[in-house]
Amino acid sequence: MVKILGIETSCDECAAAVVEDGRQVLSNVVATQIPIHAPYNGVVPEIASRMHTEWIGPVVQEALEKAGDGVDGVAVSSRPGLLGSLLVGLSFAKAFAWARGLPFIAVDHMLAHLYASRLSPAGEDPPAYPFLGLLVSGGHSIICRVDNFDCITVMGTTVDDAAGEAFDKVSKYFGFGYPGGTAIDKLARTGDSGAFRFPIPSLHKSGRRYDVSYSGLKNAVINQREQFRVKANPGDADIAASFQKTAVEILLRSLFRAAEDTGLTTIVAGGGVAANSLLRSRLAERAAPGKGFQQFRCIFPPPEFCGDNGAMVAGLGYRFLERGDRSPLNVTASARVQGFRHLPR
Ligand code: KG4
Ligand code: ZN
Repeated sequence: MVKILGIETSCDECAAAVVEDGRQVLSNVVATQIPIHAPYNGVVPEIASRMHTEWIGPVVQEALEKAGDGVDGVAVSSRPGLLGSLLVGLSFAKAFAWARGLPFIAVDHMLAHLYASRLSPAGEDPPAYPFLGLLVSGGHSIICRVDNFDCITVMGTTVDDAAGEAFDKVSKYFGFGYPGGTAIDKLARTGDSGAFRFPIPSLHKSGRRYDVSYSGLKNAVINQREQFRVKANPGDADIAASFQKTAVEILLRSLFRAAEDTGLTTIVAGGGVAANSLLRSRLAERAAPGKGFQQFRCIFPPPEFCGDNGAMVAGLGYRFLERGDRSPLNVTASARVQGFRHLPR
């Protein structure tokens, strides 16, 4: 039995967890800064790193106490994310590993999101490689072929805003709440998704078969919604539902094209937007037999492992450490990872 401590501070969650043998979650502590950033309707990077500095000690201590009996290695997210926030977790993890003489590994936050579905609170068998990955968070929208825990090939990404970013910006504009994804998901439940018919971008026509774009939708919802209105006198819930339906459709069209072209029939989702109830139910429909579509096995992490957490970092870290990989103690953090997002043109 090998226990790994996972530390995650890439954005606004200060999180630590202990995971055994890469699957069994023994403790999972997430101290969220949501109430602190809510008045600003978005994460304030300077405040985020200061809060991590205050919280990281007690959060790690709680994770260790809940799991009991020490750990055999330390894993931490070192990229991509907010640089100041990443550096707090990374520095803490290095010091902890060095002081206790433990093996240390710095991992990619997006690979950790993908790994979240292999954690086993319910004991389900993890899917065999290769499969298609759908990584959707506040900073990224990635459709990728996954050949191993450390090997993904990005097939499509966003050419502008990430999916979660679009939820956050629309919600901020209308004052629906923060974070935008959860607020819109909730509000949309009582709305009519047919109240507006917002446009879907056609990037595939210019050869970008798996890329997504959200700036057009964001602009349509915020600045031009009258042009796309179907229903008389729509309310806030109708705006939320119509936006959400289109946002999910944009992801699914690119994802299904990738599935058709690769012949891969297992889809594994990860990241905060993977908690979205419409995305989950739309993919669940495609997992049911007899619909006249290509059928998929769709795997979502449990909602508590969709957003940022230390368990996914510990689980992924275990895989690297198990085969002997180590990071040097002078490894640094990176805000971006090349290929995960199109660079501005
Ligand atoms: O993975 P995550 O916790 O942090 C990043 O790595 O970015 O993702 C946060 C993003 C935010 O943009 C948030 O609005 C979005 O995930 N999100 C959702 C939902 N819950 C969180 N988006 C849509 N529907 C949800 N239920
Ligand atoms: Zn994340």
